[in-house]
Amino acid sequence: MEKGLDAIRQRISVRSYAEKEVEPEQRKLLEQLCVKYENGGPYRTAVRFRLLDLEPLSSSDLRRMGTYGVIKGARLYILSAAHSGKGAMEDLGYCLENIILGATTLGLGTCWLGGTFKRGAFAAQMELAEDELLPAITPVGYPAVEKSVTERVMRFGAGSNRRKPWPELFFKSDGVTALPESESGTFKEAYEAVRMGPSASNKQPWRLLLDQQGVTHLYLKENKIYNRMMGKLRLQLVDMGIAMCHFEVAARELNLPGAWNTSHKGPRIAGLQHIASWQ
Ligand SMILES: Cc1cc2nc3c(=O)[nH]c(=O)nc-3n(C[C@H](O)[C@H](O)[C@H](O)COP(=O)(O)O)c2cc1C
Repeated sequence: MEKGLDAIRQRISVRSYAEKEVEPEQRKLLEQLCVKYENGGPYRTAVRFRLLDLEPLSSSDLRRMGTYGVIKGARLYILSAAHSGKGAMEDLGYCLENIILGATTLGLGTCWLGGTFKRGAFAAQMELAEDELLPAITPVGYPAVEKSVTERVMRFGAGSNRRKPWPELFFKSDGVTALPESESGTFKEAYEAVRMGPSASNKQPWRLLLDQQGVTHLYLKENKIYNRMMGKLRLQLVDMGIAMCHFEVAARELNLPGAWNTSHKGPRIAGLQHIASWQ
């Protein structure tokens, strides 16, 4: 069964949730996913997750927390914590996206939130250590039948239904010539899995380069102003972790060999920052 690839194809950001409480059995599975991916990223940095139920919180706590009206009706949230060193944001993206794909397989909706939530109040619930950051959270629950107006506006604003075409994302070893789908060989599905991924403001900053030895190199095409808006929280590095998760999920399900090498130096390409290589 290709569960991970199915989840990659099915997942979309859900911002309106049904009243129905998440079944205890599914909640337990979510807790297990949070534990499974603790410190589980390709850079091996310390990341952790917490499933937070808003229901038992005091009304004064609840007043402080919120998503500026972006998320409607969610009672459960997954909170994250990471440090600010090399690889931390990528690890966070990789691990939380794996949890999100697991939730999708359980029939639950999620939505990456890196900006539109009251970070301080959620951070208090995560009991952050001094050097920890809370880069992102996601609500989790059953999708409502109707999307809220805010949700429709946000999807339209970010162009969430669209993805960049292959020639803008995937290249041959010179980093300039587009890689035709027909020349991507057995890795075609893995490239497509990266293309379908969620990204902050749907900017899709990932670029893949297939070299003559069959090695795939992952690069960031950074939007510097956007990416550095929130200081140490580089959301486009979180996007890179999401890309690494999707590529790996596809590769594993298709029995393709390889693993992410995070210390490999990829070919130098002007305007692109090398992140990791699949070898
Ligand atoms: C790192 C990251 C941060 C995001 N932050 C927000 C956010 O703060 N608020 C929001 O409504 N959506 C947020 N999104 C969701 C994106 O807008 C969404 O993934 C993108 O538009 C593609 O749509 P889709 O997820 O439905 O495929 C974020 C996504 C990612 C990956």
